[in-house]
Amino acid sequence: MCGIVGYIGNQNVIGVILEGLKRLEYRGYDSSGISFYCENDKKIEVIKKSGKIKDLVNEIDKRKLCKSHIGIAHTRWATHGEPTDINAHPHTDCTGNIALVHNGIIENYRTLKSFLLDKGHRFKSETDTEVLVHLIEHFYKNDLLEAVKKSLKMVEGTYGILLLSSYEPDTIIAARKGSPLIIGKADGQMIAASDASAIVSLTNQILYMQDNDIARIKKESIEIYNIELEKTSDSDFEQIDLTISQIEKGGYSHFMEKEIFEQPEALTNTFIGRIDFENGTFRLNGIKEKFKDLLNADRIIITACGTSWHSALIGKYLIEKYTNIPVEVDYASEFRYKNPIITEKTVVILVSQSGETADTLAALRESKNKGATTIGICNVVGSTIARETDCGIYTHVGPEIGVASTKAFTAQVLVFFMLSVALGRKKYLTFEDGIKFIKEIQSVPEKIKRILGSQNVFKSLDSIVETNYIKNNFLYLGRGINFPVALEGALKLKEISYIHAEGYPAAEMKHGPIALIDENMPVLFISLKDSIYDKIINNIKEIKARKGYVITIASEDDTEISKIVDKVIYIPKIIEDLSPLLSVIPLQLLAYKTAVKKGLDVDMPRNLAKSVTVE
Ligand code: G6P
Repeated sequence: MCGIVGYIGNQNVIGVILEGLKRLEYRGYDSSGISFYCENDKKIEVIKKSGKIKDLVNEIDKRKLCKSHIGIAHTRWATHGEPTDINAHPHTDCTGNIALVHNGIIENYRTLKSFLLDKGHRFKSETDTEVLVHLIEHFYKNDLLEAVKKSLKMVEGTYGILLLSSYEPDTIIAARKGSPLIIGKADGQMIAASDASAIVSLTNQILYMQDNDIARIKKESIEIYNIELEKTSDSDFEQIDLTISQIEKGGYSHFMEKEIFEQPEALTNTFIGRIDFENGTFRLNGIKEKFKDLLNADRIIITACGTSWHSALIGKYLIEKYTNIPVEVDYASEFRYKNPIITEKTVVILVSQSGETADTLAALRESKNKGATTIGICNVVGSTIARETDCGIYTHVGPEIGVASTKAFTAQVLVFFMLSVALGRKKYLTFEDGIKFIKEIQSVPEKIKRILGSQNVFKSLDSIVETNYIKNNFLYLGRGINFPVALEGALKLKEISYIHAEGYPAAEMKHGPIALIDENMPVLFISLKDSIYDKIINNIKEIKARKGYVITIASEDDTEISKIVDKVIYIPKIIEDLSPLLSVIPLQLLAYKTAVKKGLDVDMPRNLAKSVTVE
């Protein structure tokens, strides 16, 4: 959820950690703060502020800053305590000699706090994090690492922490359990952060910390210990493939806009190296070893959160259609609180753009405990879920920064399609079927480009936005494989436009939502010329008979539909099973344009965060 960054090296620390923070702002943006060691005064200084990072920068600009080459910083998504200046991180101990930033949740903080209050510690904030810094103070006896170890052993919950202390002013201590933390190394400089976007402007040499690792980081060296403070040999840096231009807006007004427009190229990256013309299938090397387990699975369970959960619903549809293997889709947040039926022949697929979502990670660990084979579909290379699953398929669409997911969704759908075809080819799909599917996939980028370049699409969208941006409610309806797209369209609108929107199976609408229909209720249908076209036309007529305002996403050769609806957005024809890749594009744009029209912060919608690393 929150983003943390720490730096030690030859540069002035403030500039480096502020740049890192800005890159991490998508992870949380209700308050932020920095802490650094003043070389002249030999003490720790803390500056923190509620609001966005620009508010922190304004605050910093007002101050006369001392010389410093070591510091830590935090951008927050509040869990315990409102987003005020005081609750912002870093937090300090009673003496002000130790400062700490934390991403995660200390679940037993109440018990720890009353223990510390009894010992005379004074608390300033309402956060769970502050107990940790006081606990370290409590245990500190001239050995910082030992105090951190003793404290972490008492903590229940999750953490990625960075700690700075005037007791050892040349050291940052980092520790992780359940929240991501990576370290980058450059000449005479070290940087630690929640993800690589905060690091790549400095270096591409990255070390992924593992759960229960504690690191002592100095300018030129790093030591990694386990929680017992035994040195681990695992301190290998690896080269990552991420450039600054991939994480900048590149001329677009918002990351979300950039990511929508990137989809033709991004999706090409998802499938291009995986086409196997010779065998009429897709080569998914990442899951080679577990491919047989999938084929022989008694059941596949797909689990995920948010947008990734919507792609999972499409995955179920496709896998069942091409393989006859029963598939279940579960919300990751519910998964471990029931009794998931898992046998040795069950395969669990975890879908996560970030690869760090706490609930999805917990579902993964529960599945492994119960003996399932686990497969990840992740975007972030080297993320926790990607590393902890038995194997996986990367979506390879590059960093997704906009909080509302776009290109990650279409890439996940594409991966599910390739996976279903690859499995289906081992069952009853013919070579010709395989070749046909490859050709259809190859046509996707061009067709998305046509939507994104179509004046008619944009004209229709503008007029829909003009009429409806003031509305309080929206209904999205679809059937079959496009029902999850209706859910996704509704989610996009809620997330960034703050308009209440519901996605529903079009025919189910008669069992409740139809009561909401009047002239003030915009209803968006996905009504492509597919196997259930006639049925959905009937559903449209039911809405029109009740004076509903109907918008529809239609196939470009549908000459009739404009006669019965209020607005049509035409999209190119494609086989039904790939149609979500096209039908979702106007819905992404509709949400985006509505939010822009309303003057809202598209990339940082209120209360949300890109990567939800708390339960
Ligand atoms: C958050 C984001 C959503 C995302 C969901 C799952 O809620 O705001 O956009 O779909 O987390 O994230 P994941 O990284 O696991 O796909």
